[in-house]
Amino acid sequence: MRNSITHPGADNLVYEIREIVDVSNKIESLGQPIIWENIGDPIAKGETIPLWIKECVAEALQDDSAYAYSPTMGLKSTREYIAKERNLEGGIQITPDDILFFNGLGDAISKIYKSLHSSARIIGPNPAYPTHSSAEAAHADSPHYTYSLDPNNNWQPDMEEMERKIEENPHIVGVLIVNPDNPTGYVYSLDVLKKIVELAKKYQLFIISDEIYSNLVYEGTEYHKLADFVEDVPAIAMRGISKEFPWPGGRCGWVEFYNRGQDEDFDKYTKSLIDAKMLEVCSTTLPQKLIPVVMQDERYYPYLKERNKKYQSRARIATDILSSIPELIVNEPQGSFYLTVVFKEVVLSDSNTLPIKNYEIKRLIESLLDDDTHLDKRFVYYLLGSTGLCVVPLKGGFNSTFNGFRFTLLESNEELFRKNIELLRDSIIKYLAS
Ligand SMILES: Cc1ncc(COP(=O)(O)O)c(C=O)c1O
Repeated sequence: MRNSITHPGADNLVYEIREIVDVSNKIESLGQPIIWENIGDPIAKGETIPLWIKECVAEALQDDSAYAYSPTMGLKSTREYIAKERNLEGGIQITPDDILFFNGLGDAISKIYKSLHSSARIIGPNPAYPTHSSAEAAHADSPHYTYSLDPNNNWQPDMEEMERKIEENPHIVGVLIVNPDNPTGYVYSLDVLKKIVELAKKYQLFIISDEIYSNLVYEGTEYHKLADFVEDVPAIAMRGISKEFPWPGGRCGWVEFYNRGQDEDFDKYTKSLIDAKMLEVCSTTLPQKLIPVVMQDERYYPYLKERNKKYQSRARIATDILSSIPELIVNEPQGSFYLTVVFKEVVLSDSNTLPIKNYEIKRLIESLLDDDTHLDKRFVYYLLGSTGLCVVPLKGGFNSTFNGFRFTLLESNEELFRKNIELLRDSIIKYLAS
């Protein structure tokens, strides 16, 4: 018999954030308009790019070099700019050669896990951003190790659980943090960051810090990059422009390597990431050209401040409305643009339903549910069929042990946003009472 042609870890590659789109499209074709709250693309939700950024892009396009390959690690001038900014912030000091560009962080994430030794494992947060957790699980063909972000403690990580799991599993070589976090909107406190650095030292781990939302932190929350407190621990920080500019279609992100010289094995691993990129020649050139231009423009940070204000305002509205339901745990996000709600234990059952007027949609939803369906997915599918609201369940979508769901704070019409959240609240109350 022929050998299998599929990688044994293939079943671990799940991305329910997009999978739910197929179901939603079918429902839409049956007559129910969809309110898309599933995916973190500000542009798809109607945000507009400021004219001055568009003008920077238009000008960059006049230069023929924008159409050329760039160096494998990324444009030198852009890496010089990033290294200079990093070094001005204090903390760890890097050179342009510690920076490697990718075609978006999705590309970086995929290579970071694929390039690990097959028995080396990274422990990450629960709930998890699925691109990390799926890629990590697929690389090892085994479920992703997680530490809990505790919904009963403002999503602070359970540090005891983290240490216990690290101690029990010598295969764990690194800790992943996503700061600010997707899906919870949690921002790691300085105290927690320092504890993670201490654990890394104690167990000789490296740290991966996904900081794609680092400039999307709300007023009143202190934000600390890993670089400021990493000391001599080997680490990889990840940044990108998909959420910041926002330019998700530009497919541009980069990683910064810290303390390569401290650990020969880590240094070799980072070289293997560079070599893997070399086989592909390089990453997208045009967005790299624009990073220093846009980020050094005096309008950039005020523009981000305005956007953050809007996300924070929507976060407050949603938290206020949903906190009125005693069966839910709702923590107000401190950054990024998501809110994750958890159902308290035992409040959901497999007999809960919502009325679905359209018979064909009802049949479709019921055909997708069976005895094994997670209870949060059951809620999400009934919500979708009944109201058209498309959110993402936690268990399947974010590799979580909690029943809950995530929605985005991207609806730019605040009145419509409020209405959507009220619809969500009323549907939850109806569902739990059914
Ligand atoms: C935490 C996090 N990391 C990485 C990514 C991937 O970003 P991109 O591939 O667009 O750079 C996302 C996208 O939603 C994200 O939320």
